[in-house]
Amino acid sequence: MTLIEEIQSIYEEAKTTLETSVSDEDLDTKKNLFIGKKGKLTSILKGMAKLSVEEKKTAGKVANETQTKIEEFVQEKRTRIKNEFYEVKLKEEHFDLLRPTRLSENQGSIHPVSQIQAEIEAIFTSMGFSIMDGPEVETDNNNFEALNFTGDHPARDTQDTFYTTDGKLLRTHTSAIQVRALRNLKPPFRIIAPGRVFRYEEVDASHETTFYQVEGMVVGKDISIANLIYTMETLLSEIFKETVKTRLRPGYFPFVEPGFELDIQCLVCKGEGCSVCKHSGWLELLPCGLIHPNVLEFGGLDSKEWTGFAFGLGLDRLVMMRYGIHDIRYLHSGNLRFLKQFKV
Ligand code: PHE
Repeated sequence: MTLIEEIQSIYEEAKTTLETSVSDEDLDTKKNLFIGKKGKLTSILKGMAKLSVEEKKTAGKVANETQTKIEEFVQEKRTRIKNEFYEVKLKEEHFDLLRPTRLSENQGSIHPVSQIQAEIEAIFTSMGFSIMDGPEVETDNNNFEALNFTGDHPARDTQDTFYTTDGKLLRTHTSAIQVRALRNLKPPFRIIAPGRVFRYEEVDASHETTFYQVEGMVVGKDISIANLIYTMETLLSEIFKETVKTRLRPGYFPFVEPGFELDIQCLVCKGEGCSVCKHSGWLELLPCGLIHPNVLEFGGLDSKEWTGFAFGLGLDRLVMMRYGIHDIRYLHSGNLRFLKQFKV
């Protein structure tokens, strides 16, 4: 075997040996067998002193190249050892962060008001509505003034609220978002706006100082009461999963004209009269109406060009009807025994 062939066979041997390394240390030990102080290649390099100048040139070149190639191979093998190490570790130590634990009976769940809110959002987005949001601390203008409760309008007394020292207030209804929609969106538009609202109320089984509403508003050309009734009936039959009979009664809100109270036929007695509907056969559910021209104007629209309807849905009331809950105070009491019943 010539010297060059010997060097080449050392390279082949080095590769096979290095390939079997299982750890960094193992790799270093094996590397030293070839290019360490007493390594095979090193001793060949040392022995070259005896060779002729010509031989030194050719064999020396091959030896140096081989040394570099072995070093590169070691480097590459080191990376592979590291990667394999992490791959194995990841497989062995994998755990599912979301897997329910034995504590799962104490896991939180979605509040019934949030559940119904999500359902309503799905129904309306399927009808082409967008979802809007607004702040809980509002200006007097958005909550009252621009909704046609101008100056000291007596209707302000029906919705007293909490005021901040800088003249803002906790919104009494999601209707404040109507004003934001009119001022910020380009008509025609359809929106709903769910949210928490606040009133200065004497708390009892059907009144809370804090509750939830969903506002709805449609602005376009030639919007009529028929459009309003159709939308409300679609919503109600989707929520209650049956056809719901409705009726309109006149209702007063300064920001709609005409304004209505939309009642539904009692779902418990089908209109015959029972304790739930106070023996009238009907339940008051949805205040609504056509948007008052003043409101359109306050919002920056030409009331001769644009029309629309608006409605307000009390979410707590809907939840109470769906599950037959007699006292609104349960809903936001944080009572776990109550909440666990609605776990989905
Ligand atoms: N904002 C009114 C309330 O909270 C309800 C309402 C909304 C009435 C939209 C008409 C139109 O009492």
